[in-house]
Amino acid sequence: MTGMGTEARTSALTTAVEDGIAVVTLDLPGESVNKFSRAVKDEFTEVFAELQRDAAVRAIVIISGKRDVFVAGADIEEFVALRSAEEATRLSRDGQAMLDHVAASPKPIVAAVHGACLGGGLELILACQYRVVTDHPKTMLGAPEVQLGIIPGAGGCNRLPRVVGLRGALEMILTGKNIRAAKAFKMGLVDELVPPPILRSVAIAAARRLASGPGGGRRRPGGVAGWFFDRSALGQSIVLKRARTMTLKQTGGHYPAPLAALDTIRFSLSKGVELGLRYEAERFGQMAMTDVSRRLVEVFFATTALKKDPGVPAPAPSPRRVDRLGILGAGFMGSGIAAIAAGQAGVEVRLKDADLPRVGAGLRAAAGIVNERVRRRSITRREGARQLALVSGGSDYTGFHAADLVIEAVFEDLEVKRQVVREVEAVVRPTCIFASNTSTIPISRIAEASIRPETVIGMHFFSPVQRMPLLEVIVGERTAVETTVTAVAFGRRMGKTVIVVRDRPGFFVNRILSPYINEAVRLLVEGVPIETVDRAMAAWGFPVGPITLLDEVGLDVAAKAGSVMQEAFGERLRQALDLGALVADKRLGRKNGRGFFLYRDGKRAGVDPTAYRVLGLAPTAPPADEDVVAERLAFAMLNEAARALEEGVVRQPRDGDIGALFGIGFPAFRGGPFRTLDALGARAAVGTLGRLASLHGDRFLPAASLVEQADHGGRYYPSHW
Ligand code: NAI
Repeated sequence: MTGMGTEARTSALTTAVEDGIAVVTLDLPGESVNKFSRAVKDEFTEVFAELQRDAAVRAIVIISGKRDVFVAGADIEEFVALRSAEEATRLSRDGQAMLDHVAASPKPIVAAVHGACLGGGLELILACQYRVVTDHPKTMLGAPEVQLGIIPGAGGCNRLPRVVGLRGALEMILTGKNIRAAKAFKMGLVDELVPPPILRSVAIAAARRLASGPGGGRRRPGGVAGWFFDRSALGQSIVLKRARTMTLKQTGGHYPAPLAALDTIRFSLSKGVELGLRYEAERFGQMAMTDVSRRLVEVFFATTALKKDPGVPAPAPSPRRVDRLGILGAGFMGSGIAAIAAGQAGVEVRLKDADLPRVGAGLRAAAGIVNERVRRRSITRREGARQLALVSGGSDYTGFHAADLVIEAVFEDLEVKRQVVREVEAVVRPTCIFASNTSTIPISRIAEASIRPETVIGMHFFSPVQRMPLLEVIVGERTAVETTVTAVAFGRRMGKTVIVVRDRPGFFVNRILSPYINEAVRLLVEGVPIETVDRAMAAWGFPVGPITLLDEVGLDVAAKAGSVMQEAFGERLRQALDLGALVADKRLGRKNGRGFFLYRDGKRAGVDPTAYRVLGLAPTAPPADEDVVAERLAFAMLNEAARALEEGVVRQPRDGDIGALFGIGFPAFRGGPFRTLDALGARAAVGTLGRLASLHGDRFLPAASLVEQADHGGRYYPSHW
């Protein structure tokens, strides 16, 4: 009931009693999703107490009033407002208390789930006696807490292993990944899987059944082996030990939350739920105050903010509609872009290359990407077929007259790119946008060939397109605002996190990568072994070391990018050696099975000793301290990020941090280059750079903005915490 006075609390819960069954609908007013805030929890507790007292009510169903969301999780604003571990522990205890009431309810409670059921939402349904879930693709269940550096704190660490068994619980809690309804059913997390239209009636029927007698829940799947590993003490201790080793390996010891979750689950399984819940709240409190959690939460906020950012200063015009996409070049990048444009954005795609065999190869490559998603069951076979039907191709410009956007991914050659601009403009409508996927050529140079330079822009995807989450949109000197907002909006429709960058060599990601790679190669020249360099950066938190990265990117691509950067920025970004010698020796990296490393059957088989010889090097240096190596490489990158921001390459530190995280796997627990610099403090950073400059050369001289910050006590972000 909603009161009339000004103080009236808008209520999130409405209850309808039908024939002894109370259906409680959760629908947070004024919000697109349901989330648990203190107010919602209080209301829940109140409503449930009332339903317990109401003699007309025999059982309860909880359902969401939102379209595709059950409960998205806890209110993260309340979480960031926490100031101490004690406060966080109290928040956790409150959530647990509310769900204890649900779990202990003498009247059966059935969860009816459609849409996202995450974090606190998952913990709510775990406390219910019975779970009915829709088999819709929008229905996702998950415990994403570790991705924010915390652990499930409303009973999740205690109840999940008891409901699905230890292994299933570890998989969900340690990775934080969402699972689809079908998998949740298979794991035993779900009692009934139903199509959305009958969710409510099936849940009511289940409630009625449970009200008239015990039982009704599914027997947990898994057999004898399942029982041993998931439910017996000996099996569990084996599984927990293995999980700990794997977690340490995967996190490099940088992320405390998965280990805290493991401790909590172990504790709960041996000491029982009551003590287990206390322990869970303690560990939740500790984790909530870690720097890692703060960085991860900031990254979450930055990504969310970017999703709403039109990419230009207000007032931003509306993006134009894009229904049809033309792609030039059916090679590695073009085919990848085609697959995600059809798959994620759902637009019609026309792929053009110089001749039909290449078009055929491109179409096959795009089909390969879509079919891989079918194989992984991310999409159904029928959906895959529908997506593929959107992609067609040819060796001429047939179909391009209807395109709203053309993305070119032809050879990396200014003249070729200019030629295709002219050809495209002769066939498309005047409003059609021309986007280049160039990685090194200035957009403004390409636009010189255009009769409508305001429609020319850069859309720099990363390889492999279907996996890399970042897109750099590059604004040329004459690019119109409307072109920018359209490219940003379309990039987002393709599922990318988009940053808008200035048309400077290397844009942002390759700009900060360049001195980092140069420094890595310089260490090889100094005689440091390849493995040491890679190990140092993996230990610093990168997913792979810089030399491995070179092989992944392709040595031809890297050699070219390196020389472009050297030409643009001179001495500071001078390459220690020309990687061209490796290319001349037919070493392109992973793609042809030979680079710094050797590859067999797609698997890496160690450093190729002859790679040193080709470059005229020998790993002769006395063993290098990995910390010393990491400091040189990291500071080369951090300093360049500061310079790039000074030049307006990114609009704000947030964009640079997200670019580094999503473009090159900068360690998430560090939050990005600007967060790292803030954490160090400008004065310390300038000090280190000064020392590195005196030891290794002027390329380490600190960026002007850092010196300025050091002198005046500035930082990149205001301090929130
Ligand atoms: P690729 O060599 O695999 O594909 C290029 C395709 O363009 C070939 O199939 C070629 O036949 C076709 N082509 C050449 N001239 C053409 C024309 N006039 N009309 C139609 N098609 C034409 O090259 P890749 O790797 O796909 O690169 C394409 C572009 O993407 C380049 O500008 C590159 O710098 C950029 N890029 C590449 C990345 C990578 O990691 N490979 C990453 C980001 C950007």
